[in-house]
Amino acid sequence: MKMWFAQMSLNIFLILLLLMCQENKFHRWKVDAQLSAFRPTIFDNTEWRLFFHLYRNITMMMAGRTGLKTRGNFLQTPVPESVPFPCDTSVGRSREPPSSVHKLRPGDVNVIAAIGDSVITASGASATSFLELYTENRGLSWCIGGQWNWRNATTLPNILKVYNPKLVGYSYRDSYSFHWDSQFNNAEIGAISKELPHMARQMVTRIKSDRRVNFKKDWKILTLTIGGNDICAYVCTMKNPESLPLKHRRNLLTTLRYLRDNLPRTFVNIVSMPDVEKVASVAGKPAICWILHHGECPCWVGPIHNSTDSSRSRWARIQKQYKKVEEEVPQMDEFRGLDEFAVVHQPWTKRLSLNDDKGVDFTLLSYDCFHMSQKGHARAAAALWNNMLEPPGKKRLNWDPPYVNFRCPSQQNPYFYTYDNS
Ligand SMILES: *[C@@H]1O[C@H](CO)[C@@H](O)[C@H](O)[C@H]1NC(C)=O
Ligand SMILES: *[C@@H]1O[C@H](CO)[C@@H](O)[C@H](O)[C@H]1NC(C)=O
Ligand SMILES: *[C@@H]1O[C@H](CO)[C@@H](O)[C@H](O)[C@H]1NC(C)=O
Repeated sequence: MKMWFAQMSLNIFLILLLLMCQENKFHRWKVDAQLSAFRPTIFDNTEWRLFFHLYRNITMMMAGRTGLKTRGNFLQTPVPESVPFPCDTSVGRSREPPSSVHKLRPGDVNVIAAIGDSVITASGASATSFLELYTENRGLSWCIGGQWNWRNATTLPNILKVYNPKLVGYSYRDSYSFHWDSQFNNAEIGAISKELPHMARQMVTRIKSDRRVNFKKDWKILTLTIGGNDICAYVCTMKNPESLPLKHRRNLLTTLRYLRDNLPRTFVNIVSMPDVEKVASVAGKPAICWILHHGECPCWVGPIHNSTDSSRSRWARIQKQYKKVEEEVPQMDEFRGLDEFAVVHQPWTKRLSLNDDKGVDFTLLSYDCFHMSQKGHARAAAALWNNMLEPPGKKRLNWDPPYVNFRCPSQQNPYFYTYDNS
């Protein structure tokens, strides 16, 4: 009897694991060409869409609204009501909206948006069990979530809201991209570089058709992060893996040119993903993470793609070039010196450390030790904000707890830095 039970549990577990590994592909099929980041497929018709939306809605119902949890070590320490916002906000907004992106202050921003992968969907930020991992806690996402406020959910929008409460575009709460609550967070789990141009087009459609937005006049900030899936799961299935960085360069160029020409008054942040080995090879990870990494990062972990030290160092070399592309492309002449468009690489992930004085701080990571926890998202948000207020070449390459070494716009340096105003 005991034996049977053990066998049965193991089977259920393996089926769940298999489902999870397939989840990305499954998710991909729920395409809604009007909304989704993914390019239309044969499943992109009304019947299938209904089915996949239903499936997603049910899995979300089963897990519940995890993003509303108020207790757990995965949450940041809230700033008490008695402590004021760390910056003097009086210099944070122009008297008249500026006409140049090189004179943009936090309070001038009216619209916030993001494209990319599960780093941006905030998958599992509040997860404390397997089932909750695929809930997208979009309201808590570092660069695009707007749930709660800067005190207990440090996110770029929650910081910007202090300067301009009329900001729109941030995700309200747990949701998938086809839910209204996701707002201008058009990221999708499992997304890869190839999908960026399509994602950008869908993003622009969303913003353009929103009646709260003055499309031509409003200043917009868009954050882009991609690569985790390219480097963890796709690179080892390519015929010529070494061509990935070049392909990424083309995708990024197409995307940025499109945004430059079609989304007026936009400031783009490009944030590279943290090094995959930081999480895939993290020392002392719990057994559950060891198992899950086989599904999330099969190029680096496990036997499916015969991963060895030498194959891993090959993917690491490609990863390095992939990120180099992200540093180089924004500095190209064609994106420089423009009045209504700027793109800046924000490098805080470059030397990102997960350690505190006692070793790896697993509370910065989600239940799968792969995605970030809410606490991690809060750090990421502060790091992004700080980078935006640091001149190129002097940007910090690591993250701190929110409001430690926190940057503020000042009388002398009131603008977000571009490559042309520093
Ligand atoms: C999924 O949930 C959303 C939001 O609750 C709802 O608008 C939509 O109709 C649902 N779709 C399906 C197919 O159940
Ligand atoms: C954050 O603050 C909001 C508003 O005060 C509150 O509703 C919410 O429960 C708080 N969240 C946590 C995790 O304390
Ligand atoms: C892994 O190695 C085995 C034996 O050397 C080989 O048959 C198989 O094709 C390899 N698989 C991959 C994905 O490279």
